[in-house]
Amino acid sequence: MAVAWYTQKKTSSSTVEYGVTASSLDQSASSPTPPVSYILLGGYHHVVKLVRLQPSTRYYYRCGDAHGGWSEVFSFKTAPDDKLTEFSLSIFGDMGYLGSAERPMKISTDGLVKNWSALPARQTLEKLKNEGSIDLIWHVGDIGYIDDAFAHHPVEFTYEKVYNEYMNWIQNLTAVLPYMVSPGNHESECHSPACIVELRFNALRNFSAFNKRWHMPSQESGGVLNMWYSYNYGAVHFVSINTETDFPGAEETDTGDSHLKFMPAGHFAPNGTYLKWLEADLKAANESRANGGPNWIIVGGHRPHGVVKACCAAMFEKYGVDMYFNGHAHNYVRSLPSNGVTVERHHKLNHYHNAQGTVWITSGAAGSDETTYVVDVDEASGKAKPRATNKISKTEFAPGYTAPVGAEVSDVTTKAMSIGVLTVKNQSMLQWKLYSATSGEVLDELSVTKSS
Ligand SMILES: [Fe+2]
Repeated sequence: MAVAWYTQKKTSSSTVEYGVTASSLDQSASSPTPPVSYILLGGYHHVVKLVRLQPSTRYYYRCGDAHGGWSEVFSFKTAPDDKLTEFSLSIFGDMGYLGSAERPMKISTDGLVKNWSALPARQTLEKLKNEGSIDLIWHVGDIGYIDDAFAHHPVEFTYEKVYNEYMNWIQNLTAVLPYMVSPGNHESECHSPACIVELRFNALRNFSAFNKRWHMPSQESGGVLNMWYSYNYGAVHFVSINTETDFPGAEETDTGDSHLKFMPAGHFAPNGTYLKWLEADLKAANESRANGGPNWIIVGGHRPHGVVKACCAAMFEKYGVDMYFNGHAHNYVRSLPSNGVTVERHHKLNHYHNAQGTVWITSGAAGSDETTYVVDVDEASGKAKPRATNKISKTEFAPGYTAPVGAEVSDVTTKAMSIGVLTVKNQSMLQWKLYSATSGEVLDELSVTKSS
């Protein structure tokens, strides 16, 4: 487990004290390197890796040190080391920070000031956590929309301040559940005028803040920073892919999200390294599956089917990727299993059994300041209120029905604000539920099963 935190002031070490009861934090681990600070930005980022932990065990911990002070005591539960333990994770992309009532926008890139809110999604996650319904979280890119901070404060440099606020806003989740992240285009850079005028752009270009603040298991999986990595958890091999850089046709091959030449991007490894790693990782996972390893291979990344299809659909098919999750599009789209070309039309819409292709799911409606359609403004209070509609559109199939050739791959869609939860029941069953972030009702439900 990696524990990471931020301090305004330099401390003499980065230390975590931990133990299996709250009253006896009898073990201690420190980072071998001093805390990292940004040039021009201030503040210190700390990370400590806790190793040789017992599986399925709750640990209590605090972080800091005697010199800089200690955090309060939090706890987390380690991953199981078997393939039988049921677990659940929430998967979504594109969650902003607060909402337009709390952080009104002054300007926007397309001239439209948005009415929006990430609060219903944030509250849904809190509820799921409190109920004990989720064991981990996977935010598949566009984390807090920190690069849009200037839309709220056009003349000030607020990137780091807003990122800190966002991290505090989600701390009730991140201090107790593993919060896994994938790179999205909004992680790319600070392109605010204040960042450029004050020469901070170089410290924040090419996913720097994203890679300083988060610590995914890339070292352990042969990946690079938080850009690409994989890990096993229970009956699943999870792979987090990079949809932004380092493959032919990537949107941010040489420059970041704003495509300004003075902020080069990409090239996290020599050309070809990333896709070679992905192929080797999927191949190994598929072989391991045949030899008693995790039975499910689940991939997540920021951009939808179309982008991933070009680089990776052939690999997904060859090595039997069961599901792919993404954000970027601010809605919900679920497909029938497909290898990117042929759609398996014989399945029931709520139950895919022995699918040959990958199930593609866009879960990108957590709410952000680039989305206006999910929120209305309450006339009386002037505050943003969630739109009541939770309309879902489905292509209904009777059992055995074959959809006409040419029908869309996307068969269940909604624009309602939502948060998804995947439950890994065991080696032969997955359950996916999409919850309305505003009403909590289950908007979509799917079982994916395999003959064991
Ligand atoms: Fe995006």
